[in-house]
Amino acid sequence: MNTNDNSFQSLVKSIRALTLLVAFLLGVIVLLLWLLLVGPPDLFSATTNPTGKKKQVADIAKPPVDTFWHAPDTSKIPHNELGERIRYGRKLVANTAYYLGPEGVVAKITNGMNCQNCHLDAGTKPWGNNYVAVAATYPKFRARSGAMESITKRVNDCIERSLNGTKLDSLNREMLALVAYITWVGSEVPKGKSPAGSGIYVLKKMSRPADPQKGKIIYAAKCASCHGNNGEGKKADAATYQYPPLWGDHSYNIGAGLYRLSRFAGYVKANMPFGVNWDTPQLSDEACWDVAAFVNSQPHPNKDISADWPDISKKPSDHPFGPFSDSFPMLQHKYGPFGPIDKAHKK
Ligand code: HEC
Ligand code: HEC
Repeated sequence: MNTNDNSFQSLVKSIRALTLLVAFLLGVIVLLLWLLLVGPPDLFSATTNPTGKKKQVADIAKPPVDTFWHAPDTSKIPHNELGERIRYGRKLVANTAYYLGPEGVVAKITNGMNCQNCHLDAGTKPWGNNYVAVAATYPKFRARSGAMESITKRVNDCIERSLNGTKLDSLNREMLALVAYITWVGSEVPKGKSPAGSGIYVLKKMSRPADPQKGKIIYAAKCASCHGNNGEGKKADAATYQYPPLWGDHSYNIGAGLYRLSRFAGYVKANMPFGVNWDTPQLSDEACWDVAAFVNSQPHPNKDISADWPDISKKPSDHPFGPFSDSFPMLQHKYGPFGPIDKAHKK
């Protein structure tokens, strides 16, 4: 080797070293820029949700905390004449059958169900078909009757339809108590407002018809253990139900809210099987629609509803009885898909 070779080699070496250094510095700069712009990688976030459970069914979207409604505390019911009335109303909601059922101690005018069977926790459960928005939104115009309705009228609607019974006089002691209680439940809600969590949760509509055959399988697996193989429910004693009936002579009639698929499905999503809450649903939306289709394809007591919906163009798409203002078949009004009907009505 001569000296020329040596100096050439050392030149190559130093160029290599320089290139490496530049590459290294560039790398550091890119890394710093990346940290600056994107932030450090999150190496410790959990891959499951905080409960550690994998989510299997579609959730109900969480409303912002400050708009979510909570029932007033029963300890706030005043200790005066009005308070007594409110307390009696609460008892009537929870134990309707005891007072007004087939063996009722006050009157025998209803089918043996309790208001609370459908208005859970005496009408205070979020998305448990509660009474939160009633005081704030009544009296209001309702298209079903085509008239302004007071709370009294609305309560009688449920007595005549959901409880398949005989209506109460507006000045009847029990009616005054029911109205006083329902008004108290909604007493902290500003006039005209329906807070998040009020009434029944509204499910997204399916693009296919709800399927009673699929619903039958869900019913057998998830509902029959309490509500019975024939939807007959289970009696606690001669006068009251432990598990209310879902169809048959003692259930809600064909004019009731639950006879509409959307009402039934939304109620079930946030509340059934019993023990479920809106934030812990067990059934997929589809399962709710299908089980609703099954239950409402079983026999329910009849009711003359020919005077309902005097303006037929106001009938909701899932009202299953004609005459209709559109040309969709009756079966589509019963089982859906409801989307196309809603769309046609909007035009
Ligand atoms: C079989 C189930 C069922 C029973 C039992 C029942 N209801 Fe209802 N009730 C409903 C449904 C369904 C609705 C309609 C909810 C909706 O459309 O959002 C409703 C609506 C109401 C409303 C109007 C709620 C609102 O926000 O507009 C009142 C008030 C009411 N019921 C009172 C009563 C009272 C009082 C009783 C007992 C005497 C009773 N209900 C029994 C199912 C029932
Ligand atoms: C663990 C027992 C249990 C199971 C399982 C159950 N329910 Fe219920 N269900 C109840 C009870 C109890 C009530 C009444 C709640 C109250 O009075 O507080 C009720 C009320 C209802 C109501 C309103 C009242 C009525 O009779 O019309 C409907 C609708 C309903 N359940 C549907 C279902 C469906 C659909 C399923 C299956 C997906 C189901 N339930 C599963 C116990 C159960």
